[in-house]
Amino acid sequence: MIKISWESLNRQILSCTACPLHLNITNKVPGQGNPKADIMIIGEGPGYREDIEGFAFVGPAGHLLTKMLAAIDIERKDVFICNIVKCRPPNNRVPTFSEAEACKNFLRAQLALVKPKIIVLMGSVALKNTIAPQGSITAMRGKWINIKDVWFMPTFHPAALLRDESKKRAAWEDMKLIRQKLEEINGKV
Ligand code: URA
Repeated sequence: MIKISWESLNRQILSCTACPLHLNITNKVPGQGNPKADIMIIGEGPGYREDIEGFAFVGPAGHLLTKMLAAIDIERKDVFICNIVKCRPPNNRVPTFSEAEACKNFLRAQLALVKPKIIVLMGSVALKNTIAPQGSITAMRGKWINIKDVWFMPTFHPAALLRDESKKRAAWEDMKLIRQKLEEINGKV
């Protein structure tokens, strides 16, 4: 893939009309954070608050994500946070396969620019649209998968944790694994 600049990529995202999702939004949500982050977090798609503000994970699920990161001593500004689709699906429905496909080159370009060492896949949509089209988040969460020297950690989406508190313990275990891996990679253990 040809590597493009952040400016050009964000311009392309903001003007994209490749799928019908752009027809019903307030703002595109390209993603934000440290452009050279060790950790990239991939969610599903913008929700209500994200659509209004134009930033990823700024609603209730985002607040929980911030707390989860803080609990393992990671600040939001140090990671790169984005989504499978950059436009909010109506009523927060799951993006269709073709909507996700239409958006995928943007995610690929973000990956090529950030070059993260760890990718946290938040929820089933992030898992299925990246490394495991038939994968189950319940079965795959909490286990590292190394692909081309990048470590993938599937975990529950924070919105799922807000709906079902019983998932929080497992999510906490996953967060601890992420902290450990970061230290391993950066030679601190
Ligand atoms: N849920 C997501 O998957 N992404 C966001 O940006 C917000 C909520």
